[in-house]
Order: sequence, then C-alpha cells, then structure tokens
Amino acid sequence: MTDPHSHDPSTARFPEEFVWGAATSSYQIEGAVRADGRLPSIWDTFSHTPGRIHRDQTGDLADDHYHRYPEDVSLLADLGVTHYRFSLAWPRLQPDGYGLLNGAGLDFYSRLLDSLLGHGIQPWVTLYHWDLPQSLEDAGGWPRRETAEHFAAYAALVHQRLGDRVRHWTTLNEPWCSAFLGYAAGVHAPGRTDGAAAVRAAHHLMLGHGLAARALREQGAEQVGVTLNLAPVEAATPDSEADRDAARRVDGLMNRIFLDPLLRGAYPADVLADVADVIGGEHVRDGDLAVISAPLDFLGVNYYTRLVVRRGDAPGSGGPSPWVGAAGVESVGRGLPETGLGWEIAPDGLYRTLTRVWREYGPLPLYVTENGAAFEDRVTPEGRVHDERRRAYLESHIAAAHRALAEGVDVRGFFVWSLLDNFEWSHGYAQRFGLVHVDFETQRRTLKDSGRWYAEITRANAL
Ligand code: FCB
Repeated sequence: MTDPHSHDPSTARFPEEFVWGAATSSYQIEGAVRADGRLPSIWDTFSHTPGRIHRDQTGDLADDHYHRYPEDVSLLADLGVTHYRFSLAWPRLQPDGYGLLNGAGLDFYSRLLDSLLGHGIQPWVTLYHWDLPQSLEDAGGWPRRETAEHFAAYAALVHQRLGDRVRHWTTLNEPWCSAFLGYAAGVHAPGRTDGAAAVRAAHHLMLGHGLAARALREQGAEQVGVTLNLAPVEAATPDSEADRDAARRVDGLMNRIFLDPLLRGAYPADVLADVADVIGGEHVRDGDLAVISAPLDFLGVNYYTRLVVRRGDAPGSGGPSPWVGAAGVESVGRGLPETGLGWEIAPDGLYRTLTRVWREYGPLPLYVTENGAAFEDRVTPEGRVHDERRRAYLESHIAAAHRALAEGVDVRGFFVWSLLDNFEWSHGYAQRFGLVHVDFETQRRTLKDSGRWYAEITRANAL
C-alpha cells in the first residue's frame, strides 16, 4: 500500500490503486419489471401492496435503467469512477429462483458489462441486493434453509456465464436489512413480523453467502466478499447500566451477529443468549459456521450514520421492532444536523467503524461500498443542482475514511451511494441520494454539483 499522507482534508491523498466508485441496485433503478421473462421479486409484491411504500410507489419504472443503461454508463465515465457497484436481479436471471438461467436476462447484463468495460470501468457485482424471487418467498423465503442452497446454485450459474468479465463478486448486500427489516420489523419486503423467522433468515443469509462464496471460488472467481451495514452503537447515558446493556444488545444484533460468524467462525454468546427467548439454535447445523467463515478477499462496509440507544420505558411499544432480543430499546438523537431521512450526520462513526473492524476482526481489505446522503434537490432554470449539503456530507466521510487509512487500516476503496436518484425502498421516490438528479416524469438525468465535485476527487485521487 502506498503511504497516504496526513488526514488533513486539504492534503489527503489516496494510494495509487485506490478504488473510486458509485453504487446502485437492480430493483432501485432498472424498472422493466415484466420485460424479457423477469418474474416478480418480493419487492414487486411488497411495493404493490397498498400502504407499504410512500404514496404506494413501486419500482415498475424506477430509472428505466434497463433501457437507458448506455446513458448511465456515460454518466459513470463523466464521474471518473474506476468501478461501478451494481446488483444483478435474481428474478431477471432465474425468474423462479432455481433452474436454467433466462437468456434475455443474461443478455442485458452482458451488454451492461461490455459497455462498462468499453469505458474502462470495472464492474463490481453484487449477487443479492434484496430482490428475492417471489416463488422462493412463497416456499418459505430466507427463514427456510433451502433458500441458501438455491442462492449458491444461482451464483454458480451466473458466474459461469458472466465470470469472464467480472473480477469482484459480492454475495450479499446488507443481510441485516434483509433479515431484520424484512422479517422482524416488516418495513421491508417481504413484510413479515416474526422475530424467530428473522433470526433464522439471518443465519440462512450467512449460509447462502458461504455456499455461494465457495461455489464462486471453485470456479476461479478472483475476489469474493460480502457487504454489511455497520454502525457504532453508543449508550444514550453512558452511566446508565440499562443503556449500556441496550447498546451491547444492539451492537450484537446489528454488527457482531454477522461479523463474528464471518470472521471468527462463531456466533457471539451474548447474542445467542439475547435471542434465546425467541429462538433456540436448532437451525444452525454442524459445519455451517465453517462454510460461513471461509476467508474473505474483502469486506464491504456500508455506512450512513451511527446509533445512540437507550432502554425505553415501555418495552414492546411502538410496533414491531427490528431488534429481536432487545425489546424496549429505542434509538435517540443527539441533536446533530440530519439528512433528509432524519439520519444524523456523524462522519466520525465511519472512522470508528473501519478502525474497529480492522482492530477486532482484521487484518482484511476493507472497502466502503456505500456512503451518501438524501437531501431535497431542485434543478435550477439553468439546469444545475446546487446540493452543497450532499457534497459536504461526502467530503467529511471521505476524510473519515482517509483518516482510518492514514492510521494503517487497509481501506481500498470508496463507493458513493448512489449514481442516480432512485427508488429508496419504503420511502419511494421521495428521498434522493444521487450524484445525478433524475426527473422521474421525463427520466432526464442532470449531474448535480456533488457529482461535479466527486469527478474532481476521483481524478485527483485526493481530497
Ligand atoms: C442501504 C441500501 C441501499 C440504499 C441506501 C440508502 O441500506 O443498501 O440500497 O437504499 O441504504
């Protein structure tokens, strides 16, 4: 690794081979949900269920990226990024979740890969960013073990057909969201509120990662990793034992429940004890943890904000919670400036996350695979978007990543979420994360000021 200079943002240089990227995911941008043999995913079903999404919006059209990808690849080139992180839609490639691959779906991704490579942009492929084929959910979804086996079979088939052009493979994006927002809190697809199902889902997602990673390696994949959403968790009142216990639980249920099996080959004992009232360990079979903990080539870290939690007064109030095993725990604000989603802006949390993973679970190569901010944007009559708050957010977080790098953490890249404004899950189109503005009526794309600024950073390889 080249020696980076100080973390002073005015002089922060990055190593020569540092990866600068932008990220998207299939359901959030592609649209064309019924095109060329694609069948519904759990997100199609969920978004078409009234009351689930802001204004009942869906990903039916989204950014129409399925048809407009050449323009989007040109935008990536304008941004000067070396890598593009995107996901493959499982229901486009294997509409039922098993069996032969769908040729038309493969053709789409094949064209996209060729276009990227033609522009000198390396594809960074995620196999699963939440769009489970609905037929697999109907058969039981992630709480059912067979889903992990189907996922590995899908990964192997896809690699056979696209592996010649893809060096970096990510199995899963943010299994915490899939498991706990999808099966416990019910605010993401498939919208279930069953704590035991969520814990089983978390394990089968990990198992799916492990089986898929093994299949990819057997076929010669060069770089195989997984992306987690991680955050430091603080006690609202550090002197309060109850709040410290709440922080320990939430850290366990969000961070360690994935980091430990992946990087230490065991679930943390305190987490198992915390969820014991909800579920025993029967779903974890002998040998699973060895599969899950096979060495990773890299870990992707998605970071947006940090968490401050306290023990609430009324356990169980406020509807279904993602925190299975931490009943009554509430997150609280510190009064810091927030993004449009109400997430406090805490760049130091990224530094702390990277250094913590490195110290407690490393050494291993780390990439920031998502970071970005939603703010309201307006296109001026001159066709500009002056999104200074997004630019400042990104600058402070890139500086935080550089600070970790300067202290010896092996941070190898940074991907902005997102290339485009897109379908932000339950928030629909109300929350814009793009470096590029999208007019959802006309599909017109406009590079925001943050995108112009990011293009300077990627070219200078320095802040
Ligand atoms: C992450 C998701 C991504 C996007 C951002 C804002 O949790 O991986 O799809 O929605 O949040």
